[in-house]
Amino acid sequence: MAKKTQMVVGTWGIRSSVHSLIGLLLTLLIITAVYLTQDSTGRPSEDRTCSGDDSLSHCNLFSGKWVFDNQTYPLYKENQCTFMSDQLACGKFGRKDLSYQNWRWQPHQCNLPRFNATALLERLRNKRLVFVGDSLNRGQWVSMVCLVDSSIPPTLKSMNGNGSLVSFKAIEYNASIEFYWAPLLVESNSDHPVNHRLPDRIVRVKAIEKHARHWTDADILVFDSYLWWRRPQMNVLWGSFESPHDAIYKKVEMLRVYEMAMRTWSDWLEVHVNRTKTQLFFVSMSPTHERGKDWGGGENCYTETELVSREGYWGSDSDPKMMRVVETVLDELKTRGVNVQMLNITQLSEYRKEGHPSIYRKQWERLTEDQISDPSNYADCIHWCLPGVPDVWNEFLYAYIVHQ
Ligand SMILES: *[C@@H]1O[C@H](CO)[C@@H](O)[C@H](O)[C@H]1NC(C)=O
Ligand SMILES: *[C@@H]1O[C@H](CO)[C@@H](O)[C@H](O)[C@H]1NC(C)=O
Ligand SMILES: *[C@@H]1O[C@H](CO)[C@@H](O)[C@H](O)[C@H]1NC(C)=O
Ligand SMILES: *[C@@H]1O[C@H](CO)[C@@H](O)[C@H](O)[C@H]1NC(C)=O
Ligand SMILES: *[C@@H]1O[C@H](CO)[C@@H](O)[C@H](O)[C@H]1NC(C)=O
Ligand SMILES: *[C@@H]1O[C@H](CO)[C@@H](O)[C@H](O)[C@H]1NC(C)=O
Repeated sequence: MAKKTQMVVGTWGIRSSVHSLIGLLLTLLIITAVYLTQDSTGRPSEDRTCSGDDSLSHCNLFSGKWVFDNQTYPLYKENQCTFMSDQLACGKFGRKDLSYQNWRWQPHQCNLPRFNATALLERLRNKRLVFVGDSLNRGQWVSMVCLVDSSIPPTLKSMNGNGSLVSFKAIEYNASIEFYWAPLLVESNSDHPVNHRLPDRIVRVKAIEKHARHWTDADILVFDSYLWWRRPQMNVLWGSFESPHDAIYKKVEMLRVYEMAMRTWSDWLEVHVNRTKTQLFFVSMSPTHERGKDWGGGENCYTETELVSREGYWGSDSDPKMMRVVETVLDELKTRGVNVQMLNITQLSEYRKEGHPSIYRKQWERLTEDQISDPSNYADCIHWCLPGVPDVWNEFLYAYIVHQ
């Protein structure tokens, strides 16, 4: 009984700390010459590239449909990515049905440009691309690293970590693709890259500088923040974590705190970002599939092998009010001259209930037999297997970075 309660309440926290550990372990990796091939992606000759940059800027990339395409996809092989995370390597941990790797996103009005690692690295020459956020954003960062990995020889890349910042470098290009852990964007008691699993969530809602100074000079910034807010109320801290005696805490309704945090974030951008130099993105909510009754399935995403076919499907876990807050804040920023492109991935990822690791993943150690036979408590229906859905999110990013 006690164990069950703890798992139900704490699953997300446990997973998160594990993810951080894996992030840290990644940082200890020294580059090894693993499975390097020239171009292992086996692309077909058909060229899906947009005819011109114009068509892209007038096209809603996020309105479209999933098309099964086992010729072009996956864009890389799970076991050939040097920096693959065990958390997301579903094939390695026993998943037999790998069709989640074979879906291409087809916008209704145009085609997504084909991902070209060399073109991206050229564009990133002497630049920093930094992903800032939670473990979903880290998954997208791992995906991006995997997407370029095979085009860089082993001696010409490196992976280094320093606390909350993990940095992949393509040495020949002097290009960095980095991840910074800040699950609530503003300061919180969940900021430690490993020990952030705390029962009581405290947000210092007006403070972002401690994080932001690590990416002030980035050329491209990709933010997300959603999952860590999923609770009715948050503890807001007025004061600082360092001087607890002067601190004032107040429980406030989550949505209000989220809005305050987003404004702290947007104010920081308005003041600090060089508008001519920096490209900004915000990734909308990544949907979870923890409630099978949403789509009339089993308990959760475990055993799912097909997409949701109902058009416009929206799970009960995705909070439209939070998305509204982001839209409002981005609109206001625009009127103040700062453009943040939203990567509107929520609706299109809602369909992908089969894309999560479920029990096919590794935490500290492999799941035990007991855990594997208890998918209602141990299935991860939050993160995404790689290669998989986040690769497509990066194709959007690629389209904006290289073709605009
Ligand atoms: C996101 O994309 C979906 C699907 O095209 C659309 O229904 C929704 O309005 C979009 N939201 C925003 C904020 O662009
Ligand atoms: C691709 O999928 C089709 C239809 O499911 C199947 O017949 C074919 O063998 C698959 N090809 C590869 C390379 O997996
Ligand atoms: C990829 O981009 C590079 C650099 O822009 C270019 O030389 C190369 O032809 C492109 N490859 C493909 C397959 O389009
Ligand atoms: C290498 O890239 C960094 C940004 O990551 C930049 O500040 C630096 O000037 C670059 N070095 C050279 C020699 O261009
Ligand atoms: C790690 O970050 C700290 C604080 O930002 C900095 O002082 C230190 O030099 C960094 N260490 C390395 C090895 O980069
Ligand atoms: C902003 O970036 C541009 C392009 O890199 C540069 O020319 C300009 O000096 C920068 N402005 C400031 C205020 O740093």
